[in-house]
Amino acid sequence: MEYETVDGQDVPVVGLGTWRTSGRTCRNAVATALALGYRHVDTAQAYDNERDVGRAIAAADVDREEVFLTTKVRPMHRSADAIRGSVHESLARLGTDYVDLLLIHWPNPLASTAEVMGALSDLRDEGATRHVGVSNFDRDQLQTARRVSRAPAVADQVQFHPFNPQTELLDYCREADVLLTAYSPLAHGGLVDDHVLTQIGRKYGKTPAQVALRWVVQHDGVVAIPKATSRDHLEQNLDVFDFSLTETEMALVERPSRVRTGVSMLRGRLGV
Ligand SMILES: NC(=O)c1ccc[n+]([C@@H]2O[C@H](COP(=O)([O-])OP(=O)(O)OC[C@H]3O[C@@H](n4cnc5c(N)ncnc54)[C@H](OP(=O)(O)O)[C@@H]3O)[C@@H](O)[C@H]2O)c1
Repeated sequence: MEYETVDGQDVPVVGLGTWRTSGRTCRNAVATALALGYRHVDTAQAYDNERDVGRAIAAADVDREEVFLTTKVRPMHRSADAIRGSVHESLARLGTDYVDLLLIHWPNPLASTAEVMGALSDLRDEGATRHVGVSNFDRDQLQTARRVSRAPAVADQVQFHPFNPQTELLDYCREADVLLTAYSPLAHGGLVDDHVLTQIGRKYGKTPAQVALRWVVQHDGVVAIPKATSRDHLEQNLDVFDFSLTETEMALVERPSRVRTGVSMLRGRLGV
C-alpha cells in the first residue's frame, strides 16, 4: 500500500467505497476488505450503512486505530446544532468515539459555509473527528471553505476518473495541500470494459479497472475509494502498486468527456 499524508496522518491511497451497499453485503465487503489489507473505509450518513460498516470494523481482527474511517454529513443539516447532533448519531451507529475524516457531503446553497465549517471545527476540537473536509466542492467553494474554517479543510472528495480529471481543482488542491479523494474512480463501473484500458492492461497483465485505478493513484495528492463487493474485485483494486503507466499511457487514458461523466453519474443515481 502507498500513502498520502494529511496534516501528519497517513491515508492509504486505496480505500473502500460503500455507497449502495447495506446489510450483509456491506458487512461482508468491509470484512473481506479489512482481511485483505484495506485500512481506509468511506461511508456517509446518506448511505444508511454506518451501522453495518461499524459492525464489520468492530468484528474484524484489526484495531480501530489502524483504519482511516471517513463519514459525511448530510447537507440538509445546516445549523451547528443539527450538524453536531447528526455526527453524534453517526458515531453511535459506527460504534466508535471518533472518525478520522468528517466531510460535509455536498455544498448546500441555503447553508452558511462559515457555520458549517465552524461546526465541523468544533467537532474536531472535541475529538469527534481527527480531520475535517468537504465533498463535491468546486475550486471556489473549497477556497471559501478553507478561508472560513478554523480547522484546516484537509480533503475534497469529488468525482475523479479518466473522463473527469478535475484539472483545475487538482491544481488548486496541490497548491493548497488539500487531499483530493477520488470517488467513482471506475466511473461507477463505466470504465471496467473500456477498450483503451483493456489494451493498456494487456501489457501489464492487469484488468481495465486496475489500469483506471492506477491512472487515478498515479496522480500526486490523490487517493481513491473504489466500491467493490466481490472478493475478486476487492483483491484487484488493491493490486495496483506493482506497475506504473508511462506518460504516454497516462495521456491516452485521460479522455475528458462531459457526456461520459454525465452517463456515469446517471448510472450512479439510477443504481445501474
Ligand atoms: N461524495 C460523494 O458525493 C460520492 C458520490 C459517489 C460515490 N462516493 C464514494 O465513492 C465510492 C466509489 O464510487 P462508486 O460506488 O460510485 O463507483 P466506482 O467505485 O467507480 O465503481 C463501482 C462499480 O465497479 C465495480 N467494480 C469494482 N471493482 C471492480 C473491478 N476490479 N473490476 C470490475 N468491476 C469492478 C463494482 O462492482 P461490485 O460491487 O460488483 O464489486 C461496482 O459496480 C462510493 O461507494 C462512495 O463511497 C462518494
